[in-house]
Amino acid sequence: MKMNDNVSANPAPLENLEEWEDFLKERYPEKSFQAVDANKKKEQFRNYEADARPTVREFYRLNHRYQTRDFVQEKRRDFLKLNRRQMGVWEALEYLNQLVDDSDPDTNLSQLDHLLQTAEQIRKDGHPRWFILTGLIHDLGKILCLFGEPQWAVVGDTFPVGCAYSDKIVFHQFFADNADSKNPRYQTSLGVYEKNAGLDQVQMSWGHDEYLYHVTKDYLPKEALYIIRYHSFYPWHREGQYDHLMNDEDRKMLKWVQAFNPYDLYTKSHVPPNLKELRPFYDDLIKEYFPPVLKW
Ligand SMILES: [Fe+2]
Ligand SMILES: [Fe+2]
Repeated sequence: MKMNDNVSANPAPLENLEEWEDFLKERYPEKSFQAVDANKKKEQFRNYEADARPTVREFYRLNHRYQTRDFVQEKRRDFLKLNRRQMGVWEALEYLNQLVDDSDPDTNLSQLDHLLQTAEQIRKDGHPRWFILTGLIHDLGKILCLFGEPQWAVVGDTFPVGCAYSDKIVFHQFFADNADSKNPRYQTSLGVYEKNAGLDQVQMSWGHDEYLYHVTKDYLPKEALYIIRYHSFYPWHREGQYDHLMNDEDRKMLKWVQAFNPYDLYTKSHVPPNLKELRPFYDDLIKEYFPPVLKW
């Protein structure tokens, strides 16, 4: 496959966003689920990379190349004004559901199906109501795609910018083309940050996690906000990296992000949830935490 450096010429390498999530599932299979497996061998990473579909590989190439610190700051300045839309949570769920995947409509579930399946499994396991709600909304930030943002700026495992990249980040070699790699200030282990400054002080690569955190931050308990903000931060919650940036609060909250991860990755079933039956429960749950309208 010929690599093309022009972003606009190839803005959507993935056929659908699920391809990235399928790749994550191969990389972190359910049967070997462990919160952080520090003994993973380097060879395994090479295999995941070698076995990845060309579309997934190209997706990571673009993500690692273009997610610079400047890019992140520009996106934060733009999107965190939250001046694009005003809508309630259910309206946002329906809006996100327009993000349809036309590659194989028989086997691919909608975005809403994924969110309901995640929430329903959390509910079945008897977790608190805020946790169920977090399952329902955690990917709402993917509406960034509907605002015209390229896939590599919406999904993908997230990582801190402004400091050295952990070598546990998949397709690490693609960071060689990131402009920040040439800035020595950004390439020490702490980079622009102070030791144990806390995740709140750290700017992450831009995507659906950080965006939704800002939309919901006034309404949910902090455990929920950690899950929303860091559920794609696999180098942290599955690989145990970046401890030097964490404070005690982050270390305490890590267990919630880890508790959420299997629901996100392993609850996809091909039977779509019964929306009509479930709707009243989720309407009540949304009302319990959110005002009728949020700024997006
Ligand atoms: Fe997500
Ligand atoms: Fe998800």
